[in-house]
Amino acid sequence: MDWRRLFSRASTPDAVQAAEDPVERDQKIVLAYHDVTKHGSQRFARGPVDLDWETQPNPFRRWAGAEVLPLAHSAVGAEPRYEQVYVEGEVAPRALDRAFVSQLFQDSLAISAWKRAGAARWSLRVNPSSGNLHPTEGYLIAPAIAGLAATPFVAHYAPEPHALEVRARFDPALWDALAFGWPEQCALVGFSSIHWREAWKYGERAYRYCNHDTGHAIASVTLAAAAMGWKATMLDELGSDAIARLLGLNDTRHPEAEEPECLLLLHPQGTERGAAEADVRAIERFARLTWVGAPNALSSDHVAWDVVQAAADAARKPASARARGAFESPWLPMPVGDEALSFRRIAHQRRSAVAMDGRSGLARDAFYQTLRRTLPSRATPPFSALAWSPRVHLALFVHRVADLEPGLYFLVRDPTDEAALRAAMRPEFAWTKPPGCPADLPLFALHAGDVRGLAARVSCEQQIAGDGCFSLGMIARFTSSIAEDGAWMYPRLFWETGVVGQVLYLEAEALGLRATGIGCFFDDAVHGVLGLRDRGWQSLYHFTIGGAVEDTRIAREPAYAEARD
Ligand SMILES: Cc1cc2nc3c(=O)[nH]c(=O)nc-3n(C[C@H](O)[C@H](O)[C@H](O)COP(=O)(O)O)c2cc1C
Repeated sequence: MDWRRLFSRASTPDAVQAAEDPVERDQKIVLAYHDVTKHGSQRFARGPVDLDWETQPNPFRRWAGAEVLPLAHSAVGAEPRYEQVYVEGEVAPRALDRAFVSQLFQDSLAISAWKRAGAARWSLRVNPSSGNLHPTEGYLIAPAIAGLAATPFVAHYAPEPHALEVRARFDPALWDALAFGWPEQCALVGFSSIHWREAWKYGERAYRYCNHDTGHAIASVTLAAAAMGWKATMLDELGSDAIARLLGLNDTRHPEAEEPECLLLLHPQGTERGAAEADVRAIERFARLTWVGAPNALSSDHVAWDVVQAAADAARKPASARARGAFESPWLPMPVGDEALSFRRIAHQRRSAVAMDGRSGLARDAFYQTLRRTLPSRATPPFSALAWSPRVHLALFVHRVADLEPGLYFLVRDPTDEAALRAAMRPEFAWTKPPGCPADLPLFALHAGDVRGLAARVSCEQQIAGDGCFSLGMIARFTSSIAEDGAWMYPRLFWETGVVGQVLYLEAEALGLRATGIGCFFDDAVHGVLGLRDRGWQSLYHFTIGGAVEDTRIAREPAYAEARD
């Protein structure tokens, strides 16, 4: 492979070419990919000059010929309150049955609305997606489930009919071998990404966006499970090949191929997955199952964005790799108050703002509470699903928070990074505790001043970043994560940002405000604002929260025409 040519726009194309050790080369490839896909005010990452509407990808994958198991629309049991889903042990675990599976997908990956403007009609989902292109596909691997399937099975979740498509059925003995050592009641949810869906619009930066979206999907499923008293634990000891094997994804070279991402083990809260690692021999047996269904064609033609494929190949996880250090964090879950907000209402009404009003403000305590919600703990879904120590911090552009001076602030989500962050950022930053800031909130004021213009400028001139109450950049511990863990940590950094982002989306709705994820920002301009000079820390995802301006020309229709049983 001529890596020098492929990454000619990176700062170190020769280093990729020169790397002989494959582990080192994969690390160099993801670093070079990150480099070439930076946006700058003078040079954007490479993408299509014009959108080719003829080849716009179908957002719905279907497996033609697979048996379809319709899911129910009605809600199960008591309505969990919004705050309860963030604390394990708050909701009594439900039994795994058809109603459980129906609700799980309805609250995470289902369609939540259709929109219409003129002749155009498009769907929106519970989980957000960059450009509403939805590259993430969801799968369920489960034992026999009352009212749904008489045998264990692997199924694809199809959001448009809200149904499962059974790709393979298998023996209870194989389920027992796979689930050996896991809690008695459990099931697996898997994710894959179709890079082409994002690359069609965004070209080379698409791989980043697919991984943000995976993070949003991880958080969506984890919180939907928590609303039924279940916990999600990522099986991150598995390599990408094993995940592909379990999901029945073989054809990785097709332009519309699904890249295997990760598997979440779902089990009742109060049970632990145990020390046993997934049985590799049992997983091998999935290769011999009878797989049913042919994937539908999503586009009539494709453009190959080679660096996307190169990054995805390099970031595939080897089976032997484990994240450095287990999940660690000193925070405790936030106490549950008595607010009567329904989790399901918040999850289903979540939308991205397309414009902010530039007027709405936020009370200081509510601002602190929202930031507190993003702190990870072992017993705090959705962060408890992740298998690595937190790597992502928040650089905040505060515009309109009552009794708080506008300016730059910083939330350190893992205190072990604080000294390194202080050393890496501008020496003139104040690092003072803001007024009224709770003792357990590691928030610091860096610099006072009006940063509305700055926030919009670094977010690709998008006004939404300056017109909200606040916006932020998610700053990840970058090169050391890749050097010490491996190239496979690169997508995981983006997953973590998506998980944090999903919590911000829901918090905004709970406050009566609205959020928007921002994948388009000028990478090095953000680093310049903070004084970050090398690649040790990188901004991976931006976000804004504020009072939304609704576009009244767009009509809204219900998610599903009929509400089945
Ligand atoms: C990873 C990611 C990046 C996004 N980037 C932008 C952005 O740069 N600008 C913007 O206006 N919206 C952005 N969005 C919002 C999406 O356009 C929005 O999620 C999508 O249209 C679906 O709408 P919904 O969130 O209301 O379901 C982003 C969303 C995600 C998940």
